[in-house]
Amino acid sequence: MEKKSQFFTTPIYYVNAKPHLGHAYTSIAADVATRFKKMDSQDTYFLTGTDEHGDKIVQAAEKQNTSPKAYADQISQLFQDLLPLLHIKNDQFIRTTDVDHIRVVTAILSKIYDAGDIYFSSYEGLYCFGCERFYQERELVEGKCPDHGTAPETIKESNYFFKMSKYQEWLIDHINTHDNFIQPAQYKNEILSFLKEPLEDLCISRPKSRLTWGITLPFDEDYVTYVWFDALVNYISALGYPDKELFKKFWPTTRHFVAKDIIKPHGIYWPIMLKAAGLDIYDGLNVHGFWNVKGSKMSKSIGNVTDPVEVTREFGVDQFRYFLMREMVFGLDANFTEDVIVSRINADLANDLGNLFSRVLSMNTRYFNGKIMGADAASDPNYCLEANAAKAIEDFKTAMELCQFHKGLASVWTFISAMNKYIDTHEPWSLAKGSHISALGTVLYNLIEGLRVISCLIYPVMPSTSKKMQLALGMDIPDKGFFNLDQILPWGQTKPGTCLEKPEMLFPRIEIKTTEPEKNQPVKKEKPFKPALKEEITIEDFAKIDLRAGTILSAEQIQGSNKLLKLMVDLGPETRQVIAGIGKSYSPQDLKGKQVIVVANLKEAQIMGEISQGMVLAGNHKKKMILSGFDKELSPGNPVK
Ligand code: MSP
Repeated sequence: MEKKSQFFTTPIYYVNAKPHLGHAYTSIAADVATRFKKMDSQDTYFLTGTDEHGDKIVQAAEKQNTSPKAYADQISQLFQDLLPLLHIKNDQFIRTTDVDHIRVVTAILSKIYDAGDIYFSSYEGLYCFGCERFYQERELVEGKCPDHGTAPETIKESNYFFKMSKYQEWLIDHINTHDNFIQPAQYKNEILSFLKEPLEDLCISRPKSRLTWGITLPFDEDYVTYVWFDALVNYISALGYPDKELFKKFWPTTRHFVAKDIIKPHGIYWPIMLKAAGLDIYDGLNVHGFWNVKGSKMSKSIGNVTDPVEVTREFGVDQFRYFLMREMVFGLDANFTEDVIVSRINADLANDLGNLFSRVLSMNTRYFNGKIMGADAASDPNYCLEANAAKAIEDFKTAMELCQFHKGLASVWTFISAMNKYIDTHEPWSLAKGSHISALGTVLYNLIEGLRVISCLIYPVMPSTSKKMQLALGMDIPDKGFFNLDQILPWGQTKPGTCLEKPEMLFPRIEIKTTEPEKNQPVKKEKPFKPALKEEITIEDFAKIDLRAGTILSAEQIQGSNKLLKLMVDLGPETRQVIAGIGKSYSPQDLKGKQVIVVANLKEAQIMGEISQGMVLAGNHKKKMILSGFDKELSPGNPVK
């Protein structure tokens, strides 16, 4: 059977500043997705690169008293050097200053121009130099650019325009008939709602009198190409458009990884450019949210721009990759602080996985001198770990297919908990005391098998730890470096008789430097009261509900419902999207900054096509919903008891 193919890309990053945590996230996410697809027996191709033309680069180079090309070389190299440091295995790195890329941009421009979809016209409009584009009045926030917070300047120029408006209906139809074209769904809705307004034609040139650092238009020497028109073409120029094998094989299978900041160029300009050039449309966009640092957007002025090289040096590469993939719900924003990464590493990696690994192998050394005993099915009635492993693999696969990396990892950790429970149930130490050697050997064999399964599943996110575990378990690692998903089961692949060494620790615990442990408030004795309306529950039942203080960061109406609002709620370590039925009682602008009580461990649900990750508590008074809150402000995430 012919292998399925999959092409993954990251945005090509601007070279006006060195790489930060946000760039690292997208590249790691695309790397994880690529490694996962390889495990799923697919042929993959993974592209990343740098975007090197335009005003931004000229300005940055000027500040350093150097030429744009010399400056681009220097910063592009930093992006290239970051890849092996983060264990990212890309197949290609493209630069928009590559001659092959320039050739393809020129060819695409000519094609669209010849087809009559580019015209020359004079235009006066509001131009943001930071974004390098014109803005419509309605797109501004209080008259300012939403990204830069500066007032755009009115400029008048004769320029070339791309007839995007001609393709508006086609694009709406394409999005509506291709379910996964933009995922997660909230971004598809965002693009569709933007497309409700008439689409303006796109200015795709800049006069050389203003900017020379760009690709000259093939039909007018006096102009260079608008940087986005140039940059988007990288995805096909890298594959060798129009006739290289790579292009033919991979182009139709493309999924672009981008953050929410650039969905418009990717979800609107790019498909229309492809359509106008007579090319197939890419398969889809995987859109993620933004990493904030200590609760704020990364910015030089706040001084919270986080360097991935430093984080990796401090915590380790696999730890960093795990944290990024586990902490962020793909599609939503997440918050990076040292406290959060430390507690994830200590709890999930050092305690759960690391302890399990060393516990099992230490017992095997203690009881059998490291020799793996055979499983004696007759002596151990409980082979249930195999079912747990099968479920973990299935859930992992489903989640990873949808880029729900956090869920994929959570399913592996459910299996890790099952393994720990298996130890508690079977008490190998008691079996050893009672000289139940055959049962003891079987229990340890099953645990070693479980570790084998885990080592395979963590490969996409933590490739080095996967290898470390597999070497310690005496496994024959295939040359390609991983096991395919369908090779992980059946259970029982570990060879009895192999001798294992006592392994080194997988993840050292990290000392917590900064947090002050929260003092537990003494629980006041409440007067007993008779539960009147619902069945009585115990204190243990109640303790299962994780209530937290949350601060509403933003609120918006859900299309097609006047009752439902989409809230983004700050819960301290993470931001949650919560769909709340309070739209008839509160308008979105009233809610920003309000503190509420959130049920934080409610199972994720889909409400009108939107993910809801929790619930806000509110009372009902004369048909109005009244939100719960606090007397004094609490920090987001504070437990509520
Ligand atoms: N050059 C354009 C992209 C052209 S693609 C044809 C560009 N470059 S950028 O350097 O600004 O990179 C933007 C991308 O970097 C985001 O879409 C995202 O992938 C990543 N991130 C930048 N900041 C980020 C966060 N704070 N959080 C998560 N990802 C972020 O736009």
